[in-house]
Amino acid sequence: MKQSPKPPKQYPKPPEGTWTEHYPELGTAPVSYESSISPEFYQLEREAIFKRAWLNVGRVEQLRRKGSFFTKNLAVASTSLIVVRGADDKVRAFHNVCRHRGNKLVWTDHPAEEISGSCRQFACKYHGWKYDLDGRCSYILQEDEFFGIDKADYGLVPVHCEVWQGFIFVNFAKQPKQTLTEFLGPMITAIDYPFEKLTERYYYRGDIRSNWKVFLDAFQEFYHPPILHGHQNPVMRQSEYQQQGFYTMHFQIDGPHRVGSTSGGAGGFLVPEFYNPIERLMRSGLFGPWDPSEIVTDKLAPGLNPGNKKHWGLDSFQIFPNFAIVFWETGWYLTYHYWPTAHNRLIFEANAYFAPPKNVRERLAQQLGIATIKEYALQDCGTLEATQMGLESRVVSTFPLGDQELMCRHLNKMVNDWVDDYQRSRERSRAEV
Ligand code: FES
Ligand SMILES: [Fe+2]
Repeated sequence: MKQSPKPPKQYPKPPEGTWTEHYPELGTAPVSYESSISPEFYQLEREAIFKRAWLNVGRVEQLRRKGSFFTKNLAVASTSLIVVRGADDKVRAFHNVCRHRGNKLVWTDHPAEEISGSCRQFACKYHGWKYDLDGRCSYILQEDEFFGIDKADYGLVPVHCEVWQGFIFVNFAKQPKQTLTEFLGPMITAIDYPFEKLTERYYYRGDIRSNWKVFLDAFQEFYHPPILHGHQNPVMRQSEYQQQGFYTMHFQIDGPHRVGSTSGGAGGFLVPEFYNPIERLMRSGLFGPWDPSEIVTDKLAPGLNPGNKKHWGLDSFQIFPNFAIVFWETGWYLTYHYWPTAHNRLIFEANAYFAPPKNVRERLAQQLGIATIKEYALQDCGTLEATQMGLESRVVSTFPLGDQELMCRHLNKMVNDWVDDYQRSRERSRAEV
């Protein structure tokens, strides 16, 4: 029987100092989480961040042909969107509001539910006004009674919409300060991954009683897994990890975005004898399927493993404000979205994308991977609702963050910076009036 894997003796460190000290603007002082418990701050975040940043709302595979659409409810922006592929193949986004008397235009069973489908035009359920796929108003019932109305003035209200590597982003600003490419910056746009080949999608979501950043933080540090998830994971369960901790191999920050890379199966975790019988049978578990998918070649996709680490296992890219893509060494990826619905509540969405399974064994390996990861997320959910309760007591006002929590520190600062910037520009424009 093989020995159980041991934590590395030499922990990865930057060439000098600590990871955090490489970004002096972050400081090392304890931080305040007032921004996660204040209803007023949440209202500022909605304006300063969610109505100004590019937000990912889906992928182009959800819009397979001309006329395919889906709706997306975004409480944080008090709106619902229609995202649609037009007759010209262009992907567009519109507010889901009829221009006649404001009825929500696209829905079926219940107006609060999101739907998807395909159509040639959108027709309002109330008085039958119709809109083309490019948003133009094409039909008004009894048009001649509307006092010389011009349909050209009554198209759906568009939302800025751009696509990067198949990911559809929207921006609610009247005029976004940056294009999507400028906003994503060099670290994210360096990623050139065969997303279009991974079409097998698994989705789950949760309605959670914590602030969106409190929740997100647990998905951007690897400090907690040996403790919080220690009883579930056979590697993390080891006393060495529980005493010495788990270390991220590489951190990198670029503008408001960040990445953390860790080892994975290739880093010595995959000692099959050490896993549960079901994991050995299915050859799958926390790191997803153990056997590499076809997309894995000798050459790693550009942009991945930015620290160029030898035993690379995964990259967790955090795209500001609320979107993450996690790439795994065996050739699949996960996305996470954290959609606030109140200062202490969010909708958490997870999608996992794999190459279509070629047989039952591959399908079961994918399903076990997802079931395992979902189990971890459930452990996080319970804990983070407890964290929210602790923060809301306001017994303590600042909290120390370690070097492994660099990404949490960075998000905290970015949110505060964006809100400060928004408040400054609001004051400037007030002064000008
Ligand atoms: S509100 Fe849509 S047609 Fe009247
Ligand atoms: Fe976790």
